[in-house]
Amino acid sequence: MTRHLRSLLDLSAAETGRLIDIAADMKATPGKYGAELSGKSVAMIFSKQSTRTRISFEVGIHQLGGQPLFLTTSGGSGMQMGRGETIHDTAKVLSRFVHGIVIRTFGQAEVDGLAEHGSIPVINALTDDYHPCQALADMLTIREKLGGTEGKKLVYVGAGNNVAHSLMLLGPRSGMNIVVNCPDSLRPDAKILARAQADAAAAGTTVEVIVDPKEAVAGAHVLYTDTWVSMGQDDAAKELMAKLDGYTIDGALMAATGNKDALFMHCLPAHRGDEVSAEVMDGRSSVVFDQAENRLHAQKALLALLLGGQSWT
Ligand code: CP
Ligand code: NVA
Repeated sequence: MTRHLRSLLDLSAAETGRLIDIAADMKATPGKYGAELSGKSVAMIFSKQSTRTRISFEVGIHQLGGQPLFLTTSGGSGMQMGRGETIHDTAKVLSRFVHGIVIRTFGQAEVDGLAEHGSIPVINALTDDYHPCQALADMLTIREKLGGTEGKKLVYVGAGNNVAHSLMLLGPRSGMNIVVNCPDSLRPDAKILARAQADAAAAGTTVEVIVDPKEAVAGAHVLYTDTWVSMGQDDAAKELMAKLDGYTIDGALMAATGNKDALFMHCLPAHRGDEVSAEVMDGRSSVVFDQAENRLHAQKALLALLLGGQSWT
């Protein structure tokens, strides 16, 4: 059966741990993996902007010996998808040419449709609902910085968005307890929350939503945030900024964890003065650039598992 990463729901806790083990080994000894994707091509379809995801996938595929094909869906050089060719037909055609698809888009249905109608692995490189590659890199980062993820408390401060959803699903797959700290009007999706909480109950971890920032962050090992205005939400920017007023991670909120060693994480791009103060973003608790680098290692492990010679067990 063809495996995909449509969201973290595609991975068990054991598989997530295995992927992070491979990522750590790839980071330590990259030379060992130079032929994982030898002779293989990967289509990278991007309908939204990207710095980290695009570059880390292109470089990562190259480092594994494969060929990345960067494709957009708009403008004169975009794919026919942008002019109405169906996902069904696109999936079938790409399956004749390439060995895998990485896609960044708006609707999760496009990712699911490519997986359903094609015959090759599909990797979600961000949708409005999920950002699983980010969460995998975050797990690697936390493991490196804190020596493990088991029993750690991660508090995501901000809107209940794609990044929050993937962290919620990461919790039970990594042994972490997750708190989403958001205004009541920007809670995570109810269905995704229910699924994350069910997975957490089965794994013996917790996923909670807490509105009050000081209450939420008490005892945290990691404070995490994301841009207040996601791609595709520009029309609602003013309203989102107003709702999130009071949810900035600053020195006082870091101190409210009661943990002087608490880490600050951000998927980036960052907006100093909005979701994070410059003092925290550029301060000693911040691990954001290690986090960005780990996109490369985690995604290479994912590619080697889905398209290369690595096994999930
Ligand atoms: N964090 C992240 O996905 O960054 P990009 O949007 O730059 O890819
Ligand atoms: N929530 C953000 C994440 C960017 C990496 C967005 O979707 O734009």
